[in-house]
Amino acid sequence: MKSSIPSLSTKRATQLAVDISKEAPMTGGSRFLRACLRQPVDRTPVWFLRQAGRYMPEYQAVRREHSLLAICKSPELAAEVTITAAEKLDVDAAIIFADLLLPLEPMGLDFEFLAGEGPVVHKPIRSAADIGALRTDRIADLGYVAEAIRRVEKHFGDRMGMIGFCGAPFTLASYMIEGGGSRNYIETKRLMYSDPAAWQALMQKLATVLAEYAGQQVRAGADVIQIFDSWAGALSVTDYREYVLPITRLLVEQVRALGVPVIYFGVDTATLLPTMRETGADVIGLDWRIPLDTGRRVVGEHCAVQGNLDPIALFAPEALLRARVEEVLRQAAGLPGHIFNVGHGIVPGTPVENVRNVVRWVREISAQMQAEQSRSIGATTARKV
Ligand code: CP3
Repeated sequence: MKSSIPSLSTKRATQLAVDISKEAPMTGGSRFLRACLRQPVDRTPVWFLRQAGRYMPEYQAVRREHSLLAICKSPELAAEVTITAAEKLDVDAAIIFADLLLPLEPMGLDFEFLAGEGPVVHKPIRSAADIGALRTDRIADLGYVAEAIRRVEKHFGDRMGMIGFCGAPFTLASYMIEGGGSRNYIETKRLMYSDPAAWQALMQKLATVLAEYAGQQVRAGADVIQIFDSWAGALSVTDYREYVLPITRLLVEQVRALGVPVIYFGVDTATLLPTMRETGADVIGLDWRIPLDTGRRVVGEHCAVQGNLDPIALFAPEALLRARVEEVLRQAAGLPGHIFNVGHGIVPGTPVENVRNVVRWVREISAQMQAEQSRSIGATTARKV
């Protein structure tokens, strides 16, 4: 089987080979994985960034009883939240319920989520000495995420793709340095510009930790790893290239060497896309601001794309939402290598029914487009004969 992954994990390589040889109906798992590898599919696979979160009444019910961190740290609860959301939406892939910031704790940084404020890191790092003190030897402490993946994987089998995830070095560093979310990333950039050696040391430590964390997730059954560089759009192309690209490329390489495709996603990245592509990721997640066909042209044909409905369009009346879904699919033109998604996370208050409708429409419209395409290919072949 042709694959761009250095060594596709045995489980998935076997599954894809079986699919191809028997022409069995595709499962969500194989449809999703094939799209990541730019292989043809029967219809476009679909899942949603932040599909298990606060807009879902089932999640809210669990959340009333447990803190966010308690849910993340309980494999049973994390698996339950993941499974409930994926089942309810009937998507092709499940993303494990966890948070980007979990690796901070074993690295030695305490943080909490404050209601209405988001994450707060109690003692943000600001100096070479702070960076020197960060630990990279306690990643086994994050084993609860792998255990949750094991449970979800056992539940779904091939029915759904299993997505593990981690933050990218830059985005995680920004939380560690700013102490929380940021508008201008002043402290992050100050450190980056004024002490490049300390910045490099921080990037190295993060890459070590994240590669190992991703490895735990893959060994537990993750089919794909999504690397969230949510705030990379805060960087100029020059700064991204100089301070972020080399380490991110290394991380992507290490994760791909585990035998899984990598999805690399950031927000506000229109100008960064060609450079993000240089990380070697198999799939680039497009944010909702760029037309999908433009984004795809920019990343080139050797890369799949994921996206990119505006998550706020999920609040629109039915006809308009459907038109926007159709627009994304028309721009994707039924070519191999597209995974339908929102162009940033689903926000609280989103009507669940609208998300379910989007899944239905993606299925209907993309299957119809595939059928039209095979008919027209058939007609062209017939004319040639
Ligand atoms: O489908 C899901 O929602 C699954 C799990 C998930 C969470 N965080 C749980 C969570 C995922 C994929 C994340 C990723 C994450 N976390 C990112 C990258 C994705 C992105 O949106 O770009 C980032 C930047 C974080 C850090 C973080 N965690 C922030 C900024 C916040 C507060 C604001 C927000 O986005 O909700 C969190 C809290 C958080 N993480 C919640 C959930 C469900 C909501 C709070 C709660 O339930 O108490």
